Amino acid sequence: AEALRIGIAGLGTVGASMVRMLQDKAAELTRQCGREIAVVGVSARERNRDRGIDLGNAQWFDDPVALARADGIDVFVELIGGEDGPALSSVKAALETGRHVVTANKALLSRHGVHLATIAEKKGVLLNYEAAVAGGIPIIKTMREAMAGNSVTRVFGIMNGTCNYILTRMEAEGISFEDCLKDAQLLGYAEADPTFDIEGHDTAHKLSILTSLAFGCRISADDIYLEGISNITQADIRAAAELGYRIKLLGVAQKTESGIEQRVHPTMVPIGSVIAQVHGVTNAVAVETDYLGELLLTGPGAGGNATASAVIGDVADIAKSRPGFQHGPVFGWPAKQLLPYRRAR
Ligand code: HSE
Repeated sequence: AEALRIGIAGLGTVGASMVRMLQDKAAELTRQCGREIAVVGVSARERNRDRGIDLGNAQWFDDPVALARADGIDVFVELIGGEDGPALSSVKAALETGRHVVTANKALLSRHGVHLATIAEKKGVLLNYEAAVAGGIPIIKTMREAMAGNSVTRVFGIMNGTCNYILTRMEAEGISFEDCLKDAQLLGYAEADPTFDIEGHDTAHKLSILTSLAFGCRISADDIYLEGISNITQADIRAAAELGYRIKLLGVAQKTESGIEQRVHPTMVPIGSVIAQVHGVTNAVAVETDYLGELLLTGPGAGGNATASAVIGDVADIAKSRPGFQHGPVFGWPAKQLLPYRRAR
């Protein structure tokens, strides 16, 4: 089969990890998808920065919109970030010219998701965004595909790796807020502007997307009570511990008699609870439904490799899909590609 030709816009932490993983795992991905995934174009703000990656024969574009519309691009991968500007214009250009889009941009979806989904659906292309919420955790696929027919009553959790990393280290090691934040930035967890993390906006963006999936409603990013962690001190953490609690930044969306409630704020969780055991960059998302019951997914919530892994999962889904054949392979791999079973010696 012909290669799936992708264009990547944005070569920051996630973009660089993605390029590396596509090279490192090329053989596995080709076998799994039944065709090669080829990076044919890239775009980023600075052309000459050393990112420690090999861009091969990919064509360089200064303008992501030109990349999104370029001939021969099947999938446009948006890793630029930001709710408007080049992220919005390039994603729109891609969808309008009939390309599939994969994005990790929660700010963009939180603001324009429904509009973009409308264009995608009209054009008959996919808009995949697994990496936008809780990094490597497959919460979008889970909520979109594995909960059909269920009525969700509540979705909540730890959705910002940077904040959870900071709170964890402040408690365990007594390190200052500022030093923890610096390390989170060095590790590639924080947003380009870390205010988005620590003031709770990033959690709010993600929550608004999950709310829409949970309750089948349009996205409302404005109707969220919002409080971040920048005022949390060592004294607060110690006081909570003395009472048997740990402080976590939670996002919560629930259905009440009068409607949907969305909030993001530091929360005292009992030290014995599952959510209190979620440490460092790990995220955890809980969903409560009528038939399925309670589900809790935990895993890496930020970082280049985990997030790139979710982006590549979305690209691979597109590579495996064929016009007129909507279902993915039953066992994840095409049956013909499954290796013979070999028992352990
Ligand atoms: N800055 C985000 C976080 C990255 O710390 O969770 C993942 O969306």
